[in-house]
Amino acid sequence: MPKPLPNTNPTSLPAWKALAQHKKSIESFQIKSFFKQEPNRLDYTTFSWEEFYVDTSKNRWDKKTFELLIQLCNESQLKVAIEAQFAGEKINATEDRAVLHTALRKLDSSAVYVNSENIVPEVKIVQEKMFAFCEKIISGEWKGYSGKSITHVVNIGIGGSDLGPAMVVEALEHYKNHLHMRFISNVEGDHYQEIVKDLHPETTLFVIVSKTFTTQETLSNANSIREWFLQKAPENAISKHFVAVSTNIEKTAAFGISKENTFPMNDWVGGRFSLWSTVGLSIALAVGPLHFKKLLEGAGQMDQHFKETPFEKNIPVVLALLSIWYNNFWGAESEALIPYTQYLRNFPAYLQQGIMESNGKSVGRDGKRVNYETGTIIWGASGTNAQHAFFQLIHQGTKLIPTDFIGFKKELKKNPDHQQKLLANFIAQTEALMNGKTAEEASLELQNSGVASEFIKQLVPFKVFEGNKPTNTLLIDQLTPKTLGSLIALYEHKIFVQGVIWNIYSYDQWGVELGKQLANVILNDLSGISSHKHDPSTTALLNQLK
Ligand code: F6P
Repeated sequence: MPKPLPNTNPTSLPAWKALAQHKKSIESFQIKSFFKQEPNRLDYTTFSWEEFYVDTSKNRWDKKTFELLIQLCNESQLKVAIEAQFAGEKINATEDRAVLHTALRKLDSSAVYVNSENIVPEVKIVQEKMFAFCEKIISGEWKGYSGKSITHVVNIGIGGSDLGPAMVVEALEHYKNHLHMRFISNVEGDHYQEIVKDLHPETTLFVIVSKTFTTQETLSNANSIREWFLQKAPENAISKHFVAVSTNIEKTAAFGISKENTFPMNDWVGGRFSLWSTVGLSIALAVGPLHFKKLLEGAGQMDQHFKETPFEKNIPVVLALLSIWYNNFWGAESEALIPYTQYLRNFPAYLQQGIMESNGKSVGRDGKRVNYETGTIIWGASGTNAQHAFFQLIHQGTKLIPTDFIGFKKELKKNPDHQQKLLANFIAQTEALMNGKTAEEASLELQNSGVASEFIKQLVPFKVFEGNKPTNTLLIDQLTPKTLGSLIALYEHKIFVQGVIWNIYSYDQWGVELGKQLANVILNDLSGISSHKHDPSTTALLNQLK
C-alpha cells in the first residue's frame, strides 16, 4: 500500500495537548466577551477573497486558540499532504489511487502526472468531446430517432453520480436553458415510474452515470428505462437516446452504448468529487458549456487559494480547524449548514455525502482504531425555512451545534424588498445566537408588552437565550456558476484538511461497499436463489416478505 501521507496520531502532538489545556482556560468565556478583550479581533478572524467575505469571529476562540490550531496544521505536516494531493501521489492509499479532481479545473495547462503520464491533455480532449455533444443537444442539431430535437434529459445515477449534478443543476436554475432536467437515483420502482410517466421517448435523452457501471440501483433503473423505451421505439434508436459516463467502457458497450456515446472518467476522480468531470454532463447540458467552464474556473481559483495561501489566511484550512476545535475539544457531534437561498436547498444533502462518506472513518492511517473523534454529522436546510423548523434547538437546546451561514449580497432576480428581509434574517440570527438574551432583558421585554407581573417571573426562564452559539458567516457577492464552483471546492478542501489532521484516509468508502454486498445476499434469499442463515430478527423480517 502506498504511504504518501504523513502518519501521526494527532493527540500525540504538542499543539493538540496545548489546545486541550487552553480550552480549559477559556471555556467559561462568552464569545461576545472576546470582542471586548480583542479590539482587533476581526483582523485575524475575517477573510476577504475574490467575491467572498468570511467571518469566523463569532466563535469560541481567541488569538491563542487560533495560533495553536495553526501550529496543529504545521505539526500534522498539512503542507506535505496538500502538495502530495496536487502532485498526483496515491494519497487514496487503500484504493491505490491518486486524487485529482483538481486536475479537471486547473487554471493553467501545466502537467500533472499519474503513473508517469501527463493527464492534462487527455482531460482537455474529453472536456471538448463533452462540450461539443452538449452544443449539439442544446442547439437542437442532435435529433432523436423520429427526427425531433431533445427537450428532456434524465440523469440516471446514484451517490456521487447523482448528488453533485442534481445539486448544481438546481443551484444554477437561473442560468438554465430550455432543457428539462430530471434525476433518478433510488432503486424504488415507484420513483422510476413517476419519472418516465409523462416522458416522450422521441425527445428524451438518458444519461447513465456510473463510475463502475455495476451499481445495482443505477443498472436496475437503466435497464427498466431501456425496456420502457424499447416498448415505444426501435432498437436502433438507442444510440440517439442513451449515453453513458463511466470508467468501465466494456460494461457500457455491453449495455449497448457505443464508444462514441460514452464519456470516459478516470479512477483518480472519486465519486463524491466527480461533478467536475464528465459526471457533470447533465450540468453542462442544463446550463451550457460556458457556464460549466465558469464553475470549473471558480473551483480552480479556490484550489489555488488553498494551495498557495498561508494557513493563517487560508479559508478552507481555517474552517476545518474550527470544525476540529468543536468536534474534538468541545464535544460537538454535528454541524449545521444554512444557505440563505432556495437555490442551494440541497447543498447540505450534497455535502452530507462529501463530508460523512469522506471522514466517517474510525481507523487511522496506521491501520489502528483511532482514540479520538473523527467525522462530524452534517445537516441543514435553506434559511428562513430552517429558522421556522429547527432553529429552536440551535438557540435553546442542550446541544452545541456550530453553524455555517451562507448568504449572497445580491439576488438574481430583482426584488430588493425580499432580499433585504432575507439578509436581515441572515445577519440577525448569527447576532442573536452569539448574544442570546439575559433574564433582565427577557423580563423587561415582557413588562413592555404588558404581561402581568405575576406571570413574568414564571415565564422568564423560558424566554432566556444562553447565547454563545458559534457561527461562521460566508457572505458572497452573488450566486453565479463561478462563485458556486469556489464554494463547493472550499468545502472539498475543508474535508481534506480534517482528514489529514485526523490521520484518516478521506478518499475511500469501504463502509458503503459493505451495503452493496449485503443487499445482494438478501436479494438472492428473497428470490429463492439461496437460503442463508441470518440472525432471528433478520429471519423474521424476511419471513414477513414471503
Ligand atoms: O456511495 C458509494 C459510491 O461508491 C459513491 O462513492 C459513488 O458516487 C456511488 O457509490 C455510485 O457509484 P457508481 O458511480 O460507480 O455507480
